Amino acid sequence: MLNSIQGQQPTNSANAGEVNLSTENQNELNNNSTSGTGAINSSVNDKMVYSWITEFAYGPNKEQALLELGKKREMYDDLALVLWNSFGVISCLLAEIVSVYPLLSPPNLTIQASNRVCNALALMQCIASHNETRGPFLLAQIPLFLYPFLNTTSKQRPFEYLRLTSLGVIGALVKNDTPEVIQFLLTTEIIPLCLKIMESSSELNKTVAIFIVQKILLDDSGLNYICQTYDRFDAVAKVLASMVKQLVEQPTTRFLRHLIKCYLRLTDNMEARNTLKKILPVELKDGTFSQVLKEDENAQQSLDMLLRNLQ
Ligand code: TRP
Repeated sequence: MLNSIQGQQPTNSANAGEVNLSTENQNELNNNSTSGTGAINSSVNDKMVYSWITEFAYGPNKEQALLELGKKREMYDDLALVLWNSFGVISCLLAEIVSVYPLLSPPNLTIQASNRVCNALALMQCIASHNETRGPFLLAQIPLFLYPFLNTTSKQRPFEYLRLTSLGVIGALVKNDTPEVIQFLLTTEIIPLCLKIMESSSELNKTVAIFIVQKILLDDSGLNYICQTYDRFDAVAKVLASMVKQLVEQPTTRFLRHLIKCYLRLTDNMEARNTLKKILPVELKDGTFSQVLKEDENAQQSLDMLLRNLQ
């Protein structure tokens, strides 16, 4: 089953920064083609790609260039390689990102400014997704430039959208289960940022944030990291518990599935398992969600396994 999350601002003139996370089908996910320059669908043969890259790097029409390059993402598998290796592109993308920092606090971001930076983030996501650019992208620590966006709290639409698109870049990084990605993320403050978003942001943002936390937990060093200190475990457990309470009022299968998988994975750590025996929210034990889980056999099985582990 393919599970895609699409975020789009209605006034937007293009497909700015869509978040497309496939959480189920690993084959599909790992099919990130890295076709060489000889392929038919290679951007190397498209003169317009170079002309828009020049336009983006040197102006004056940078905004349109961002949009046009964004449209090319779907057409070519190797656009990431061309973007990463073209002189000036990355520094200009970073300049786009940094230029909106002054609008974050106090919150002054317009829809137009949000769309523009989200178009830049869409190209970042393209680079984060490609097998050959992901490593250098991490090495250059570029994800850190997005953290100020994730750290915003305004509920205004341009901010929700900016957070969603930024989460999409991180989501694209964790999607392929590359241990290097998790290693990198664990040296940063991504977990508290995701927890904050899970507590307070929109439904879609919450879902991408918990997806990222789940991916970190599924990695052995990620699980160890979170269970290493009581404070870390406690911070995660508190937010998961408050998510359960929210789901009682507004159940959504997709979110519930991630939530159950996070709890289940935590029981692989013995200390976490023993603590969860005492603090697992009662709603997961008393059949509160059995109606919702009828639609999702897999999640129901995970819940059964979770409860068995905690016996
Ligand atoms: N630097 C903090 C720490 O190492 C990061 C952090 C805050 C954190 N809250 C967390 C990490 C919750 C994991 C879980 O503790």
